[in-house]
Amino acid sequence: MGIETNVRLFCSDLDGTLLGEPEATADFIEAWNAIEGERPILVYSTGRLDGDAKRMIKLHGMPEPDFYTTGVGTMIFSVKDGAMLDEFSESLNKSWDLEKVREIVAGLVDIEEQPPEQQHDWKSSWFWRGRTNSEIDSLRKELQKAGLAAQVIYSTSRDLDILPVAANKGNAITWLTNYLGVNLQETVVAGDSGNDSSMFLLEGVKGIAPANAEPELLEALDGMPVFRAKRTSARGVIDGLRHYGVFS
Ligand code: GLC
Ligand code: MG
Repeated sequence: MGIETNVRLFCSDLDGTLLGEPEATADFIEAWNAIEGERPILVYSTGRLDGDAKRMIKLHGMPEPDFYTTGVGTMIFSVKDGAMLDEFSESLNKSWDLEKVREIVAGLVDIEEQPPEQQHDWKSSWFWRGRTNSEIDSLRKELQKAGLAAQVIYSTSRDLDILPVAANKGNAITWLTNYLGVNLQETVVAGDSGNDSSMFLLEGVKGIAPANAEPELLEALDGMPVFRAKRTSARGVIDGLRHYGVFS
């Protein structure tokens, strides 16, 4: 049985959350389209960049969202306006030095830069496989020592993103809810990996972690009142949205 809530905004990750198991994705689409009355504002929050995210949505026949936050919370796109909300990305510029970040990260052992289509002015992305928390922390310290205001995000024991401090999925959704006048208490977030943890950690937000959630996310959410679904990916999301009263 779902609980009565006033959910005004639903923000979900794509890969491993709404996407990954085509039949589960199809079930989500059906459930979303069957909502009676007003639907929550729909936001897709992904590590992919803008064009790539939109292609995925089309390819999988997903409902068109109201907003995308792309590049691990470095850009926000408004579908209705057909435009980026530039004030958000511009607010990231402070003390961000992409070239210096790249120089330092390139010196790490066994690191490989992700392809150019994954990079942009506020996102430096790499493959760095099987690293421990302490290795990730050392990198944080190294960037700090070099005077760089950068944050390090590690996902699926492989993907390393270095972003300006004011970016990440959580900060992007905070900015967007402020912009829209929506409270975090009226917001549901869903995600499966490290780059999603900043959304779950927002005060008052309601979280959904599907059964396939990565250890690094579960570790970050330890002790938090998150809905831990028994089913994987989009079916786990369906169960969570039922729990929070969005789906009947
Ligand atoms: C997506 C992006 C990649 C990023 C990863 C984790 O896969 O394409 O660049 O590293 O998400 O955030
Ligand atoms: Mg994911």
